[in-house]
Amino acid sequence: MTKLIAGNWKMHGTAADLGEVHAVAERAAELAGKVEVALCVPATLIHRAVETVPGFAIGGQDIHANENGAHTGDCSADMLRDAGARVVIVGHSERRDAHREADADVRAKAESGLAAGLRVILCVGESDAEREAGRAVDVVTAQLAASLPRGNTAALRAPGLDVAYEPIWAIGTGKVPTTADIAEMHAALRQTLLAELGPDGSNVRILYGGSVKSSNAAEIFAVPEVGGALVGGASLKAADFLPIVEAGAV
Ligand code: PGA
Repeated sequence: MTKLIAGNWKMHGTAADLGEVHAVAERAAELAGKVEVALCVPATLIHRAVETVPGFAIGGQDIHANENGAHTGDCSADMLRDAGARVVIVGHSERRDAHREADADVRAKAESGLAAGLRVILCVGESDAEREAGRAVDVVTAQLAASLPRGNTAALRAPGLDVAYEPIWAIGTGKVPTTADIAEMHAALRQTLLAELGPDGSNVRILYGGSVKSSNAAEIFAVPEVGGALVGGASLKAADFLPIVEAGAV
């Protein structure tokens, strides 16, 4: 399966940063067929980014599960699509934590995103305390099973769905699990996907996220069942992000 290298700009980026988007998109076009690349930028930047690099996959970082309504400050999946987004992240731990999003909320967002035609990157991950207690695999597989989109139509299933395993303690910390720990978790997540989605579960890429850098990307991508990366800090500058993209194209 072609790897997906997705950048998550979080709350960073204004029009002054569109040059970075342009540089990433230019190289991604050259690597088409070898690796897929997306940049999930702040909602305010989606439309301008799409206009800057038509044809390149620009994404958002969250959506409301409803199509519209009295939800001050929120954007729906259709609104992101209307702005030109093709991808959306749901269930990032920073949303689950700071915005108290439960698995059921994440599931509803994933369903809404897929129904609107967005590629959905659904995030799961354990806390430091959960890993220390030896509960990481149980916690994360349960989180995935409860957050997965359901439904009878193909649109609600693969191949519009990717999962990102992001240990919370590895995000923005420079800490990364051992390759053995990543392999164990990704194998368990694959089993969960197959159990929950049937054969469709084999089409879902399982990305790794948390302190991915140019120096560790190749090693992480060599782990079985790692289908790419969700990259935060190292996605803000093309010079940092593109070596990760290149590693994913091998
Ligand atoms: P990081 O963030 O690469 O800065 O650790 C990853 C993420 O939160 O998606």
